[in-house]
Amino acid sequence: MFKKIYNLFKILRKLSVSGIIEILDEIKPMPKSLKFLFNIFSISSSKKENLKKSSGEKLCQSLEDMGTTFIKLGQFLATRPDIIGEEIAKKLEKLQDKLPAFSTEKAKNILEKEIGSKSFKNILFLSEPVAAASIAQVHFARIKIDNTEKDLAIKILRPNIHSAFNEELDALMFLAYLIENFFKKTKRLKLIEVISLLKEITNVEMDLRFEGAAASELRENTINDKGIKVPKIYWNYTSKEVLTLDRIDAVSIRDVEKLKSLNVDLKNLSKNLIQLFLKQSVRDGFFHADMHQGNLFVDKEGNILPVDFGIMGRLDKNNRKYLAEILYGFIERDYTKVAEIHFLAGLVPANTSKDDFAQALRSIGEPIFGQSIKDISGGNLLGQLFGITERFNMQTQTQLLLLQKTMVVVEGVARKLDPNTNIWEVSRPVLETWMKSIKGPESAINKTIELSKDLLERIPDLPHVMDSANKALQMIAEGKLNLNALNGKNFEMEELKLKNLRNNMIIIFLGIVIGVFIVF
Ligand SMILES: Nc1ncnc2c1ncn2[C@@H]1O[C@H](COP(=O)(O)OP(=O)(O)O)[C@@H](O)[C@H]1O
Ligand SMILES: [Mg+2]
Repeated sequence: MFKKIYNLFKILRKLSVSGIIEILDEIKPMPKSLKFLFNIFSISSSKKENLKKSSGEKLCQSLEDMGTTFIKLGQFLATRPDIIGEEIAKKLEKLQDKLPAFSTEKAKNILEKEIGSKSFKNILFLSEPVAAASIAQVHFARIKIDNTEKDLAIKILRPNIHSAFNEELDALMFLAYLIENFFKKTKRLKLIEVISLLKEITNVEMDLRFEGAAASELRENTINDKGIKVPKIYWNYTSKEVLTLDRIDAVSIRDVEKLKSLNVDLKNLSKNLIQLFLKQSVRDGFFHADMHQGNLFVDKEGNILPVDFGIMGRLDKNNRKYLAEILYGFIERDYTKVAEIHFLAGLVPANTSKDDFAQALRSIGEPIFGQSIKDISGGNLLGQLFGITERFNMQTQTQLLLLQKTMVVVEGVARKLDPNTNIWEVSRPVLETWMKSIKGPESAINKTIELSKDLLERIPDLPHVMDSANKALQMIAEGKLNLNALNGKNFEMEELKLKNLRNNMIIIFLGIVIGVFIVF
């Protein structure tokens, strides 16, 4: 209890001293009384000021300075303009997830503790850290496994990250609870919900066995695919805090010049990247959802080697079918068919006019096809489609939103390799092959619509709509939690705990007051 109060004061002080309140006030004015509260806690400290920077830069800087909890909070809020507004969300996109590394000595201690001294003895060499972010850092290692020496990479969680993060978040959550109770206007910011959701998402990310399992599944799914090599996980050297996998000896996909000098066919690489992403999504229903340039490498033969399997997306069969049919429908410019799919699936309220809906679809499809080929983007098209379906009262399933966001990233990376990549030409064969495979080889592709009718009628629970609170599903969108495992219970639990904490505090306070009366 006292620890909790102490943590609350600590976080209040941290927030006050960081200057973040003033920065936020600059962007969006805050209640005076709230500013006053934070001013009390910043007494006797000199706030960091940097007048030359823009408000966005200052915001990111102060979050980065406050460490992991706030970096994660900022990254999370950057994806939620619905809560904090487009303006702040955009500013937060530039947040850097970098922190000073901890020492190799410390890393060795953690390793020995986690994998046991017997396995630890097989580690012949451990490099200095090669990358350090807010949750973990990566080292290279040489390990003797079955009498052969292997070059591996080891990702290690920051020491005590779990408890430090949860302590800070619990304190923040209590603070949010107090603020929501005192400043009713802040209720719409859903502060407690946001924090409890972040806590759950990040706690999954802080268990590297989940990342290992995701990598293994992706490796299994793609083992026969040409052009991609997913590193293997070494489970004997993996635990909650440690992830050991093949060391990738390849060039960053960002380094186009180097790839050119190695005679890698960039056009083909760009095509591969898009096709492999589509195969993961449509064929396997399990996709890497963090495909930015920093997580992708390319070897001399032009194979793509991904790392960082912390965020994955999962699409059930219905979603995969929906996605393939929609994309294919747009490729064919068959808007009535695309509309039909939405109606069949019950995604659009039945009383909507099918013609109006098809017309709205045409309004996003046609201008896109009028553009020069290199400007057509599947991700943007899906983004616009979801915008339209929302206008027609259909709520987009969050897994599909995650897919759409990743698709935009993948296309961006592909275009940097080859600006003339034609997303549609490249996507078509993957979609056709998959649709043929689920229909049986004898059927023709243009009968797909019939198939969707059968399939959709047999399986009535097509894309689960987002629940109004939106919170639990965001997590599922991150590909991290099973839909059935979550019913917002955690959030309710958190609220209950906060109420108890407040009540306990009131009791302690009254106890002190009564004590003072008795004594004097
Ligand atoms: N298996 C690997 N082989 C070589 N380098 C790796 C490997 N795994 C990670 N790295 C390097 O470490 C960096 C950080 O690893 P990553 O898993 O992306 O962690 P984070 O979640 O912190 O982004 C990568 O961008 C890459 O440069
Ligand atoms: Mg990474």
